[in-house]
Amino acid sequence: MADIGVDRVTKSFGSTQVLNGISLDIRDGEFVSLVGPSGCGKSTLLRIIAGLEPQTAGHVRIGGGLVDGMRPSRRNLAMVFQSYALYPHLTAYDNIAVPLRMRQLTAWQRLPLIRWLAPGTRATERAIREQVEQAADLLGMRDLLHRKPGQLSGGQRQRVAVGRAIVREPSAFLLDEPLSNLDAKLRVHMRTEIAQLHRALEATFIYVTHDQAEAMTMSDRIAVLMDGDLVQVGTPAEVYNDPQDIRVAEFIGSPKINVFPAEIRSDGGIDLLGQPTGLVAEADRGEARVGVRPEALRRTKSGDGALAGTVTHVENLGAELMVHFALEGAEAPAIMRLDQAAMNGLAIGDSISVDFPLAGARVFARCGARVAARPLSPERAPAKQVAHV
Ligand SMILES: Nc1ncnc2c1ncn2[C@@H]1O[C@H](COP(=O)(O)OP(=O)(O)OP(=O)(O)O)[C@@H](O)[C@H]1O
Ligand SMILES: [Mg+2]
Repeated sequence: MADIGVDRVTKSFGSTQVLNGISLDIRDGEFVSLVGPSGCGKSTLLRIIAGLEPQTAGHVRIGGGLVDGMRPSRRNLAMVFQSYALYPHLTAYDNIAVPLRMRQLTAWQRLPLIRWLAPGTRATERAIREQVEQAADLLGMRDLLHRKPGQLSGGQRQRVAVGRAIVREPSAFLLDEPLSNLDAKLRVHMRTEIAQLHRALEATFIYVTHDQAEAMTMSDRIAVLMDGDLVQVGTPAEVYNDPQDIRVAEFIGSPKINVFPAEIRSDGGIDLLGQPTGLVAEADRGEARVGVRPEALRRTKSGDGALAGTVTHVENLGAELMVHFALEGAEAPAIMRLDQAAMNGLAIGDSISVDFPLAGARVFARCGARVAARPLSPERAPAKQVAHV
């Protein structure tokens, strides 16, 4: 088992820099997800940690020691790819046994038929069987070991690939979008399995995904990578509730956070769609944006500073509903999450008034960086702590 350190790592392909100096420390046994949009450099960073790709500058440490220039096999990490990379002509058992046979058998002992004449083959094969079956039990796939990949479902193939990683007893697991080939339902199931596996093995996991829901549900910490920069690293709750950049706010959370055009006045007061909100920013005068999560919006009486809009679409998810509405004065549509009771007969085409508690608003400067904002001082604050627009 090992902690992993990435220290000011940059990577360029020709004249294009794809990683701009990444530093990240992952504790022994931690589950860290690397998330970000397609092309932001997630796989490149994982491949650099694995030793499959050299970094342009910076250092990688595994278990406290520098591994720059060390061959992948000597880093003792197991990598699971999106494509699984199973041998189609081998059974699940033999696929899982591959790294063990490579390590524990001599060239003679691996030859067809002749191998059984070589001394020690039987004993080693017995030990290998024990290890493969132990991994298969952990993954609940003992009864599938005789099948070839073509006879397995996507999720079962995924388990074989993970099994092959487990038997190597690596000091850390690197997983690159391992679930992206699976259908939505199986993905949800497999993410529970992977989280349980992590708890059972107590090993370090680095998990690459562009699915924020996967990252939110499985990780101890999430590292958000955007355009080659590590924009924020934090627990799922931190990146969701306290995004430090508008790109993080928009990437994490489904449905997406609502972003309203705003302005920070010269006295620091924040106007949303031209009306004062009751929030004051600490700095950064000028154009800004206010983010409000769909669950922070609530229906209110019209007038008295409420945002006015018209319902354009309703998604009924059973226990809750997503109400899409066009907001007067704003270009982008907004989404509000309501339960059945709060709907109260609301239908497409209806007028709607909404507000939000000031604590539910996140303010971002024009450049996208988070701006500290607080409610007006109590004596100047409105009686009710809501945004008045
Ligand atoms: N061998 C290479 N040569 C040139 N450019 C590359 C190479 N490998 C990756 N890139 C570029 O580096 C950038 C980052 O690629 P990377 O595969 O790390 O992205 P990613 O975040 O894993 O994306 P995805 O979510 O689509 O898998 C991309 O713009 C990609 O085109
Ligand atoms: Mg990738």
